[in-house]
Amino acid sequence: MEEQEKVTMMPRIGDQAPDFEAITTKGPIKFSEFAKDKWVILFSHPADFTPVCTTEMSGFAEHKPLFDSLNTELIGLSIDSIHAHLAWVNNVKEKTGVYFDFPIIADLDMKVSKLYGMLQPNESETAAVRAVFFIDPAKKIRLIMYYPLNVGRNMDEIIRVLVALQTSDKHGVALPLNWKKGDKVIVPPPKTLEEMQQRLEDDSCERIDFYLCKKEI
Ligand code: BEZ
Repeated sequence: MEEQEKVTMMPRIGDQAPDFEAITTKGPIKFSEFAKDKWVILFSHPADFTPVCTTEMSGFAEHKPLFDSLNTELIGLSIDSIHAHLAWVNNVKEKTGVYFDFPIIADLDMKVSKLYGMLQPNESETAAVRAVFFIDPAKKIRLIMYYPLNVGRNMDEIIRVLVALQTSDKHGVALPLNWKKGDKVIVPPPKTLEEMQQRLEDDSCERIDFYLCKKEI
């Protein structure tokens, strides 16, 4: 492959989520009008009717009530036709009872996959990698995960980072290594000498030093 062809603009953390129109298993959508005032998890899988993808999609489907409670809509994608999507959704429902009750984008022309850097040609030229985009209600990209074709994602981690992002926004705090709901959070470090002195005299948080303080929320 030519070096020039390998270079694609990948969306980055902090970018506005690129807009697109697409056909999905729940009908046509315009992404900028999808799930207004909600968080969105946009995720790709390599192909319908494949084993790892079936376990992942089932995981998303089984956790949908939890994502609903976190004001978050799910939307999947693969480089497959709408007919393949419908047949796969129906097949998994028949075989396992799990119903993929969220839209799945049919991206046969690879338009959305390329727009979101989900097509990574040195991994596969025809299948999307396992990408997860966490998009906030202002349609800003807040966190991105990419997994290769042969390793499934971790649902606990997907939920953990979603809760972490929402907690950070709500309380204006940062979250330390391995943070999970209920753990202490990090108070943002001071930015001036005056704030540093105040922090050194502040006994309301657990202080290692002025730059590392934790508190309960
Ligand atoms: C799978 O989902 O099992 C899979 C899909 C594409 C390549 C390898 C594995």
